[in-house]
Amino acid sequence: MKLSVIGCGYLGAVHAAAMASIGHEVVGIDVDPAKIAALSAGEAPFFEPGLPELLREGVASGQLTFTTDISAAHGAKVHFIGVGTPQRADGYAADLTYVNAAVDALLPHLSPGDIVAGKSTVPVGTAAELAPRIEARGATLVWNPEFLREGWAVQDTIDPDRLVVGVAGGADVSTRGARSTTGDAGGEADVSTRSARSTTGGGEVDPAEVLREVYHPAVAKGTPFIVTDLATAELVKVAANAFLATKISFINAMAEIAEVTGADVTQLADAIGHDARIGRRFLGAGIGFGGGCLPKDIRAFSARAEELGRGESVAFLREVDEINLRRRDRAVQLVVDGLGGAVFEKKIAVLGAAFKPHSDDIRDSPALDVAVRLHGLGARVVVTDPEAIANARQKHPQLTYEASRDETIRDADAVILVTEWDEYRRELDPEHASTLTAGRVVVDGRNGLDAAAWRAAGWTYYGMGRP
Ligand code: UGA
Repeated sequence: MKLSVIGCGYLGAVHAAAMASIGHEVVGIDVDPAKIAALSAGEAPFFEPGLPELLREGVASGQLTFTTDISAAHGAKVHFIGVGTPQRADGYAADLTYVNAAVDALLPHLSPGDIVAGKSTVPVGTAAELAPRIEARGATLVWNPEFLREGWAVQDTIDPDRLVVGVAGGADVSTRGARSTTGDAGGEADVSTRSARSTTGGGEVDPAEVLREVYHPAVAKGTPFIVTDLATAELVKVAANAFLATKISFINAMAEIAEVTGADVTQLADAIGHDARIGRRFLGAGIGFGGGCLPKDIRAFSARAEELGRGESVAFLREVDEINLRRRDRAVQLVVDGLGGAVFEKKIAVLGAAFKPHSDDIRDSPALDVAVRLHGLGARVVVTDPEAIANARQKHPQLTYEASRDETIRDADAVILVTEWDEYRRELDPEHASTLTAGRVVVDGRNGLDAAAWRAAGWTYYGMGRP
């Protein structure tokens, strides 16, 4: 199928490459000429495992092209909107400038019967507002949220947990469909996955059916395919991220309680995680969540709920946000305490800059925030990261960066792990570290180190929510 993807950031570039790899003819479109030049040369403009290979294959085969010219979208059957929706500068709401600009630019190139599939994370109600402009061109708008995780983006796109397609009118106006099941506490409930049929424009178009064709390999292997209304599809995305953020802040709140009681939050997480209803994933206590999604999505959700007169329904997300930010303070405090109350002129080795491993993304990175705060307290901060140094240096040129892990820790008074790359978490031997550093203070901001091994090597070990 011929597809266009508008916006070639983390979401769009991966989507374009992944769709080409499963046999579609894809054009990726972005306003940034530098990004397009890189992608056209088969190079990923950011670090994402597996993406360079897909880009090279797609570009070489001619299945995948990139351009800044929006008119190239003409002739595609489905147009994916994958532009960013960052937090607004003046508040918590999402900035929809890029979504609106993408739709406006695309409109003149739509043909009757085309489908516009929104993938960007948007406040609920956005699709309903956009739809009339798209329908006026004889095209149909669907909302098809994306659940990819950075670092696993290629796999998550080609082989997702579930596919969600929101159509105007929802499953109720369907004319045919399949069935999928979804489990809940009490058992299994049948959910209609019937698709809506739109008769706008050039004859009958069943947009959900078209999306099934787009995602044919995942659909063929039985991936849950949920057809719903536009509002539900938009909400599924923000609800999922809000739940994940809440899960992380929940365990971090338990870490705060553990800290005043002598309990160990990692053992607590293991124990409660054995309950299948709770599950161990996303119960990693530490310096909390960051990145381009969770922080801004929970804030945009709060802002939208306020607009809808339902602010109280998600008031807990403010608490989730605050718990999350407090953990950064805690990590800084542990370094200060470890160094006897002052870090001024002390050398502190910061292991990690990316918001999580397997990514070079430093957007709202808790790791860098901790580094910047220590720098602000007068410490001589040296930051290392396998992938994110270039991005970090651009954003925080005041910090010192070092590519080599061992040079970073050389003569350090304290070491703090803030991004749990294997290079630091598994491969840094505490005995070896002792031969390089000046002090023996280690703060484990991700509870990723083997505390017993570090203590045995003579280090004073501080975890997050651990004795
Ligand atoms: C997140 C969601 O996990 C994806 O499903 C979603 O598609 C994506 O946002 C998005 O909206 O685009 P991502 O931002 O790539 O994905 O990162 P996560 O893996 O969710 O991690 C987020 C943050 O939480 C990281 O800073 C990570 O270190 C932190 N985290 C994660 C914890 O502190 N503890 C945990 O147990 C897990």
